[in-house]
Amino acid sequence: MDARASWVSKIDSMSYDQIRADEQLMATVRTTGNQLFGDNCAACHGSDGKGGNNYPNLADDDWLWGSGPEKIQQTLTVGINSRHADTRVAQMPAFGKDEMLDRQQVRDVAAYVMALSDPSTSTAENIDQVDKGREVFLTTCAACHGENAKGNPDMGAPNLTDGQWVYGGGLQNIIDSIHGGRQGHMPTWDERLSPSEIKILALYVNALGQQEP
Ligand code: HEC
Ligand code: HEC
Repeated sequence: MDARASWVSKIDSMSYDQIRADEQLMATVRTTGNQLFGDNCAACHGSDGKGGNNYPNLADDDWLWGSGPEKIQQTLTVGINSRHADTRVAQMPAFGKDEMLDRQQVRDVAAYVMALSDPSTSTAENIDQVDKGREVFLTTCAACHGENAKGNPDMGAPNLTDGQWVYGGGLQNIIDSIHGGRQGHMPTWDERLSPSEIKILALYVNALGQQEP
């Protein structure tokens, strides 16, 4: 067996915990992962994995779909809103465009959402609006984002309280998210990468998230 075939078969047969405990193998994972990431992922997520421009940051420990290499492996295998039969589905409805909320309700709930991560935006002048927005949130948004707005990894519904935004955290960005909805698209890698390559990337991306607190 040549050197490459030998470490690939190790990656295939070992568990994530076993691989992570093997320093030598992890050095290979980092080099190969960095290469695979540059070739396949950097175009959307950036070469440092920090995302931006409507692509999520993979280099923080804040996960839309849950943390750990097993969850990341699943995301890579089936994709998000992809053509894979078992795709993860991320559907943020278009509350304004589809007339589920009127303009004022969209603005009210946006003011409430904004104040969750930046309480300084809730002032004496707009406290009534924020209160009305809270009512809208509890009846319309809590089912997916949670009553405490901390999100739900089973639905890919982001935490709205942590100041981390995929689509921007300015008032107009938040209004746009609520008005037009959001359906991020991440391809399935099932056909393009081998199972061992997906496993290497899951470890690599998981480690990216652990570099920063
Ligand atoms: C065409 C653009 C595109 C490419 C290429 C792409 N991604 Fe993504 N990725 C996305 C988008 C958009 C999302 C967020 C989708 C959503 O949840 O709405 C995402 C989400 C993710 C997530 C979930 C993040 C979380 O917080 O749970 C992971 C992990 C991920 N991508 C890893 C990768 C890796 C590894 C590659 C390379 C093999 C890759 N992506 C290539 C667009 C892309
Ligand atoms: C059916 C489930 C569902 C409901 C109901 C829902 N959301 Fe979402 N929301 C999501 C999902 C899933 C995403 C991520 C979409 C993506 O990136 O593909 C999201 C994304 C967002 C974002 C963008 C976050 C970012 O990081 O930029 C905001 C803001 C938001 N939702 C606010 C709301 C508000 C306010 C309501 C109620 C009016 C609401 N959502 C109702 C599922 C939902």
